Amino acid sequence: MVWAVANSNLALVKYWGKADEGAKHPASPSLSVTLDGLITAAGVELTRELSADVVEGLPPSVVPKVERFLDAFREGFGVRSRARIVLASNFPVAAGLASSASTFAALARAITAAAGIEVDDGELAEVARLGSGSACRSVHGGFVEWRPQGAGSIVEPIASKSHWERLRIVIAVTSERPKSVGSSEGMRRTVATSPYYRAWIEGGRSDLEDVRAGVHGRDLERVGAAAERNCLRMHAAALGSNPPLLYWEAATVAAMRRVWQLREEGIGAYFSIDAGPQVKVLCDVESEPAVKAALAAVPGVLRIIVSRPGDGARIVERAPHWVAPPAPSARAEAAAS
Ligand code: DP6
Repeated sequence: MVWAVANSNLALVKYWGKADEGAKHPASPSLSVTLDGLITAAGVELTRELSADVVEGLPPSVVPKVERFLDAFREGFGVRSRARIVLASNFPVAAGLASSASTFAALARAITAAAGIEVDDGELAEVARLGSGSACRSVHGGFVEWRPQGAGSIVEPIASKSHWERLRIVIAVTSERPKSVGSSEGMRRTVATSPYYRAWIEGGRSDLEDVRAGVHGRDLERVGAAAERNCLRMHAAALGSNPPLLYWEAATVAAMRRVWQLREEGIGAYFSIDAGPQVKVLCDVESEPAVKAALAAVPGVLRIIVSRPGDGARIVERAPHWVAPPAPSARAEAAAS
């Protein structure tokens, strides 16, 4: 098996709406930070011996997305083999921690290597996007912009992880359950039914400029204020959908309020929330202990994960130690083939 790992990412300016549903090109630019330590490992073996793809290690709700990715990959690259895939993440999957980003970035890296296809990072981002839009940003480390270009889109790293080593992302996990409405369906519904969708897309431009300039200047206040505003506006657009989309739990709101209180107390902390209930808080390394303690004390917060800017997708020699060995049935099949 060929193994690759990729980190999740947090969009500081969010992708929420497609210009092209099939090819997953975004309607507006987004900018993310790749998150160190929130890892998905993907193992791929391509074989003519199987009559169907075998996908292990994912909740059943996510498997069809991987199957569609495999079909799109085979069609795009003229590959005929079936795939045996093992996927594992060291954080909650499909619960708003952007596991599809790390999943498809790792899968793209592993499957192109398994197929003997040489790709540069730009091409690899195109492959990852076949699975999930946000995955194209996780191909790169550090700070990454993804924007519409012509009829398509382009991914561009704008700063390395070492550019802003003091930045911390403190994540308050408020639920480990998979979310009920996934991002693809959520954004489709927002585009089709929310009267606030247009305003969301238009407002994103100034957020992007603030976040980009703020990242270049390592200006936490500028990045944080714009990221928090952008997140709230994305959720406002989603809330305006019919039927409505509410991704927050009571603990999500309590954590948001705690972040505002921290700011009143003089601590630079700013939140962002994706299509799920987890609260991701940007702060400086010096404030990390205070932010961590404050969030951990919020009722309903289950645990805290601390991250920082991380690396892009890469091939590894073997599966990380936290990946469970394949199920006995898959082992027997592998031995027989
Ligand atoms: C809220 O990339 O999971 O995390 O392209 O349909 O697979 P698909 O969606 P996905 O959406 C991510 C949405 C988000 C914001 C972001 O990461 O930019």
